[in-house]
Amino acid sequence: MTATTPSPHRRRMLLRGALVLSLAGIGIAATCGAQTQPTPAAHDATLWPQPEWPFGAEPELEARITALMAGMSVEDKVGQLIQGDIASLTPEDVRRYRLGSVLAGGNSDPGGRYDASPAQWLALADAFYEASMDTSTGGHGIPILFGIDAVHGQSNVVGATLFPHNIGLGATRDADLMRRIGEITAVETRVTGMEWTFAPTVAVPRDDRWGRTYEGYSEAPEVVASFSAAMVEGLQGEVGSEAFLDGRHVASSVKHFLGDGGTRNGIDQGDTQVDEATLVRIHNAGYPPALEAGAQIVMASFNSWNGVKTTGNRHLLTDVLKARMNFGGFVVSDWNGHGQIPGCSNERCPQAFNAGLDMAMAPDSWKGMYDSTVAAVRAGTIPMARIDDAVRRVLRVKLRLGLFEAGRPSQRPLGGDYDLLGSPAHRAVAREAVRKSLVLLKNQGGVLPLDPRRHVLVAGDGADDVGKQSGGWTLNWQGRGTRRADFPNADSIFEGIERQVEAAGGTATLAVDGTYEARPDVAVVVFGEDPYAEFQGDVPTLAYKPGDDADLELIRRFEADGIPVVAVFLSGRPLWVNREINAADAFVAAWLPGSEGAGVADVLLRDAQGRVQHDFQGRLSFSWPRTAVQFENNVGQPGYDPQFAFGYGLTYADDGDLAPLPESPGITGPLAAPGVYFARGRASGGFSMRLLAGDGAQPVTSLPAASGDGHLRIEGMDHEAQEDAWRMRWSGEAGVALVADEPLDLTREANGDVMLVLHARRGGDAVPLSLTAGCGEGCGGTVEMQPLLARMPAGTWTRIGVPLKCLVRAGLDVARVRVPMQLETAGPLDLALSRVALGTQGEAEQVLDCSAD
Ligand code: BGC
Ligand code: BGC
Repeated sequence: MTATTPSPHRRRMLLRGALVLSLAGIGIAATCGAQTQPTPAAHDATLWPQPEWPFGAEPELEARITALMAGMSVEDKVGQLIQGDIASLTPEDVRRYRLGSVLAGGNSDPGGRYDASPAQWLALADAFYEASMDTSTGGHGIPILFGIDAVHGQSNVVGATLFPHNIGLGATRDADLMRRIGEITAVETRVTGMEWTFAPTVAVPRDDRWGRTYEGYSEAPEVVASFSAAMVEGLQGEVGSEAFLDGRHVASSVKHFLGDGGTRNGIDQGDTQVDEATLVRIHNAGYPPALEAGAQIVMASFNSWNGVKTTGNRHLLTDVLKARMNFGGFVVSDWNGHGQIPGCSNERCPQAFNAGLDMAMAPDSWKGMYDSTVAAVRAGTIPMARIDDAVRRVLRVKLRLGLFEAGRPSQRPLGGDYDLLGSPAHRAVAREAVRKSLVLLKNQGGVLPLDPRRHVLVAGDGADDVGKQSGGWTLNWQGRGTRRADFPNADSIFEGIERQVEAAGGTATLAVDGTYEARPDVAVVVFGEDPYAEFQGDVPTLAYKPGDDADLELIRRFEADGIPVVAVFLSGRPLWVNREINAADAFVAAWLPGSEGAGVADVLLRDAQGRVQHDFQGRLSFSWPRTAVQFENNVGQPGYDPQFAFGYGLTYADDGDLAPLPESPGITGPLAAPGVYFARGRASGGFSMRLLAGDGAQPVTSLPAASGDGHLRIEGMDHEAQEDAWRMRWSGEAGVALVADEPLDLTREANGDVMLVLHARRGGDAVPLSLTAGCGEGCGGTVEMQPLLARMPAGTWTRIGVPLKCLVRAGLDVARVRVPMQLETAGPLDLALSRVALGTQGEAEQVLDCSAD
């Protein structure tokens, strides 16, 4: 380092000063996200139903619990009420702190591998069980409960049967099928050693912009109510029967209590603003049947009801759920959900226990939660009676599951029976579910069913992609970044069509981009949403892929060539696709079918003798929108005017002709995809790029651009399209900053493992480069990027990820982010950038490791 070069630290200060100055110059003031819990309105528990809890007095069970608890210290008791995540705790921790439960979150896997083997899962379950049973350090040998999101089959595990997501199941209207799906899910979950699933979701999604719409069965409370008991009984077995919670069944958690599907503007974890009677009538519909079926666990929701977080709402958890609705199981919180209650943090929340929470899902925060809860009990902040009640509720579930006598997960009846994962019998049920879930919206001139003896071209990026057809909560949280080999027991939609067509003597060709040499008789175009989960799937309108008409153009190309087109649409919600519907001859809403893509061929194709194999049976359980802004479009609402009404669904007996649909989306104003800050070489709406140099910050409105001192020169560069990237060359100290017009609240994102993903390309050497996310003067987090730059192969476009958690650790206040990305270096550096967006594991090829900092 020469004497004239300022130290990296001083350099950073200089530049940050420049940015703050410029922000002040354009009138940006730091706003503080202070929130207070509003005073709840008057509540009325008598508005709620009184389902019967199906367990009578169980004196033996209670006596056993009493005896057990007599010897338990405060620490032992609190331990039973804390659930940590396998990514953040070890069997050793369980042994030491005698925790009651572990979970595997969507991105948490044995050895950190999303494609871990079933045997690794089982070994992990054994290790946690053994740690819980170890009495050598004074523990009481209370078996651990291992919970997992087996939400459409045992969907975290390679080889498992993947059922359609709930939105597709809702279209079947078949409660008996739910029971069978529950049974199979339980069996496959037991094979890999867990005894608890975080399912079913009984949300009643009302605004389809919500990223979790597909986790709900229906917008109609009656449909949800007609499914919830069957699913719980399938998972747990029937109360009173020998099968109940035996080794072939798992404990079920009904979620998310309450109002998760009713949040304003469909914002995940948002606020449901309805009166109490509406909350009961719509959002509570699935709970009474589930409780009567004996659901052992209820998961409290992230969302608020009229401004009050439900996880801290004593009226809902205690007065309504436990007292009025007679729920005798236990309440678990959702992934640090307790931390969102005003006055709480992820590590401390006596309020939640006092409101009625029995177990805290404290994935990465379990240690703090444990310590602070012990302290709160000792201080009397949480009454001992409340703790005793919670422990009793947890122990009841463990006893009902027979865990004290069951032995290691691998020694239990199904432990390690890997042949059951994706077994032919299980897959047959999933395939039946796929067949029954397909909803036919249009069948012009009776183009369907197809003759398998002809030449069928199968196109579209959903045609041969099991990951895409399975959606979120598949092998990882977002369901992205998987490969064909991860799905040994599955058929893509193309594979199913190909098998049947070839058996019948026809030809099936796969051409994702739709090109062909031999002219096909018909084209099947499979397209739709790419996988997402939770808030990552929240969208601003119901427009399908705004700004990207590639799929529409594909359909139109076949039409122009005079080839009939059958559109198969994969989606987690109804979307505005009127143009695609108009362009295609037939249109099938296939939802997110899961591993059994072959179920699509069963309905689309005749058999070799020309007979219909299976007719369409699916009926919309969500109303289909007429415009992209018909967000809350639910049957029974005033002014209800959908494109396709709730219950719609053609069969082969119907006239499937459709007059052309209106092609105006009804959108006014710009539409930025949430979480995308810079794409195709341009800042998204609501964001701008600034060039930072010693003399201040200037907006970059056109390229090429350069700082006054010439330290940084930026020019356009071709990545995937012409000039869709910025090439930035540093020869001295300077920076670029991506600035948001309005502060961004990334609290939800930072709770998970969301990261800032930069699609970038390094030209020359990797030199020191700092990345800062800023939140106003004196607020921000800076990380050093040189190690990550060094891992990018020079000259190759690479997606690099900076976990939000790293930025938080470095000081960022995620509730008010003004500058999601500021890059500074003294160079020399040659760095190109085409996209800056939020993403998750699987989207980044190289991820910054800040664990050691
Ligand atoms: C989700 C729950 C899920 C839990 C555990 C949360 O973020 O909201 O539905 O069960 O994580 O993965
Ligand atoms: C999800 C978890 C997931 C995590 C990723 C949470 O919001 O619910 O299941 O594993 O984020 O960090």
